[in-house]
Amino acid sequence: MVRETQLDAGQLIYPLFLLEDDRANNPILSLPGQAQLGLQDVLSEIETSLQLGITGFVLFPAVDSKHKTKNASYSYDPENFYTRAIRAIKQRFPECSLMSDVAMDPYSSDGHDGFVDDHGKIDNDKTLPILANMALAQADAGIDILGPSDMMDGRVGYLRQELDAAGYTETSIMSYTAKYASAFYGPFRDALDSAPKGGDKKTYQMDPANRKEALREAMLDEEEGADILMVKPALCYLDIISDLRSYSHLPVAAYNVSGEYAMVKAAAAKGWINETAAMEEMLLSIRRAGADIILTYFAKDYARLKK
Ligand code: PBG
Repeated sequence: MVRETQLDAGQLIYPLFLLEDDRANNPILSLPGQAQLGLQDVLSEIETSLQLGITGFVLFPAVDSKHKTKNASYSYDPENFYTRAIRAIKQRFPECSLMSDVAMDPYSSDGHDGFVDDHGKIDNDKTLPILANMALAQADAGIDILGPSDMMDGRVGYLRQELDAAGYTETSIMSYTAKYASAFYGPFRDALDSAPKGGDKKTYQMDPANRKEALREAMLDEEEGADILMVKPALCYLDIISDLRSYSHLPVAAYNVSGEYAMVKAAAAKGWINETAAMEEMLLSIRRAGADIILTYFAKDYARLKK
């Protein structure tokens, strides 16, 4: 009765890794319990999750290196395996909320979220039209929520304008508002083979030392038309989640990222911590800090626990 914080499976978003090969199912070693899946297995994962009360999913493409180019043109091919999967998922499960990833890195031969110029620098403004083309292809395929994870400046406003102009007024944007240049993305980059080929992501992702900058980013995203603000990673950034929750009236999401999940799994496998208790404490702390929505690889485990 006096418990202050509740977390329901309906507030979780489950990240899924999609492979082009329809029948594939390749376990990801650094993310125990998660796998790169072909469309058939993605559909059955969604079915199981819906039965557990999870309604939100985010889809990440593991792109074959033959499709990776400097300008990531495969990302906006209207018939690529990612947009085909979006169509198939929304047709079979219209009730789910499906979120995409909008960033160049899975499709880029440079492994960066933005366009890399001849001097090895990220060209912010040359990236925006590429992201818009990607977003339009995903919107056309029926995505519910676009997830720009790229961190280019001005991309939320740019995407909103292009979407509205093309008639996709109902496609929402969950902005990766405060995405930090974090060491906790390691297992995810293994899963997608998307680590940068040169340099790092510190010119576009945020400095972990900065707190006020997250509020500046939130202000810009609100003005530019974001529907949901996100903080990523979650655990080292509970203060940021709390700041955004009190600053904004938009829903706030937090991404409990791959490294945070892998740490619990690895320590539990050694018998050093209790996995279930650690998972529950972790997710509850993110919710307590102010997140309305949590993206987590623990989604099914948590939902099963609460069932
Ligand atoms: C990149 C992207 C990353 C994640 C989601 N989208 C990694 C990165 O910025 O290199 C990380 C998610 C996770 O670690 O679980 N567009």
